[in-house]
Amino acid sequence: MELSVVILAAGLGKRMKSLKPKVLHEALGKPMLQHVMDAVMPLKPVRTVIVAGSGADAVMKEVTGSGLSFVIQKRLLGTGDALSTAKKELSRKGTILVLNGDCPLITTKTLRTFLLRHRRGGNCLSYLSFVNDSLSGYGRTIRDGKGRVAGIIEDKHASVAEKAKFREFNGGVYVMEHEALGFLNRIKRNPSSGEYYLTDLIAILLKAGKKVDTYICPEEDILGVNSREDLCRVSKVLQERVISGLLKKGVTFTDPSRSLVHSRVTIGKDTVIYPNTYIEGKSSIGSGCVIYPGSRIIDSIIGDDVKVKDNSLIEKSIVKKGASIGPMAHLRPESVIGSGAKVGNFVEIKKSTLGRGVKASHLSYLGDAVIGDDVNIGAGTITCNYDGRKKHKTVIGTGAFVGSDTQFVAPVTVGKGAYVGAGSTITKDVPDFALGVSRSEQKNIAGWGRTNKLKVKSVMLKVKGK
Ligand code: UD1
Ligand code: CA
Repeated sequence: MELSVVILAAGLGKRMKSLKPKVLHEALGKPMLQHVMDAVMPLKPVRTVIVAGSGADAVMKEVTGSGLSFVIQKRLLGTGDALSTAKKELSRKGTILVLNGDCPLITTKTLRTFLLRHRRGGNCLSYLSFVNDSLSGYGRTIRDGKGRVAGIIEDKHASVAEKAKFREFNGGVYVMEHEALGFLNRIKRNPSSGEYYLTDLIAILLKAGKKVDTYICPEEDILGVNSREDLCRVSKVLQERVISGLLKKGVTFTDPSRSLVHSRVTIGKDTVIYPNTYIEGKSSIGSGCVIYPGSRIIDSIIGDDVKVKDNSLIEKSIVKKGASIGPMAHLRPESVIGSGAKVGNFVEIKKSTLGRGVKASHLSYLGDAVIGDDVNIGAGTITCNYDGRKKHKTVIGTGAFVGSDTQFVAPVTVGKGAYVGAGSTITKDVPDFALGVSRSEQKNIAGWGRTNKLKVKSVMLKVKGK
């Protein structure tokens, strides 16, 4: 059986009060529309058509998936019109799964059962619904005296009596046989809103003697997002799902309610995540790691057995096996930290590669640097990588030892096994195994303190313990 998918995503989403198209708002680090795409893709549809309109360029740029194409709904004339726009992209046979782009909680599992029920029921059209006694804002299933589906009435057009009587809501996910598309042109413009409602198709099909049914599923799977409040609600559900999935895979959260983990994140077993941590974007964390409080990891790859100590920020970087980051360290984009390396207190690394076992334990800035294995970077080392116009590279060879408070005025290269004396400003290359030292020699001026009477007096008093 050939399955095509259409996702309706042209609306601006006025209730979001945003300049950005609604479907691009992120729920747990991923655009809502991408959540829907990701739920649909495992069903292996022959094609997926996204109906874009508001912010179409951004939608086409941000959403990805295999077999994906876009159609543009020029005037936002409602969901019925949106599906009509997609018709030309669909083949002349098969089953079509239609989803609103603002239902990021939908799962592949629910869709699979839904498709199965639809087929077993021999329906022309089925839709997902849920029952709730207090919600409003959704279209409602109208049932006749015998309890059969008779149509859908939108919330804003329902009378008080209808609102009280019908509490089975339309989730905005439909599956229909190709012939149902032939009835789309029978949908009339709603006189009060001026829109063509896809939901009117239900009554039209029933009138034509076609079989329509609903499949009731958990509300948690089809909550739609119309406002920022809805977005918070679905993000919370998604977060619970992500964390519970990770707990099942052997990850420890010492307080799961106080960590934020985006939906694309992967974490290996026996990793411990402390509270107040944010793991974002497409990050992956290996097994046996510990992520201490206050850390934020964005789009980064963390190997096994890594420790990220308190209050560290890691952005678009790679940290290899057994390395230790922080406390209070900042890895800026394109940094690679070698296995067993240590990046300690108040160290900032930018676009630099640190080899295996490198130690940069305190108060350093390393930018645009390539640092070989087993190099020791003394406290307060700084790469002066920027000359006001361009960035320059610092290269430090394997096994070199850099004394504290060194500045490397880039471009500059330090050879392997070389030493750099503490307090040096290195402007010239240091050959392999050489000592580079640039500080001026110390002078001691005898008796100088006696000329500074005030100071001497206070020192003497201290010495005498007064
Ligand atoms: C819709 C349903 C409602 C259902 C609810 C479920 C209709 C008329 N109503 O209402 O019965 O309970 O979803 O969440 O379908 N869109 C377009 N083009 C348009 C208008 C909308 O592509 O011209 C897209 C939107 O981007 C959105 C989806 O269709 O992704 C639904 O539109 P929205 O305005 O959110 O419909 P609801 O009022 O929520
Ligand atoms: Ca909606």
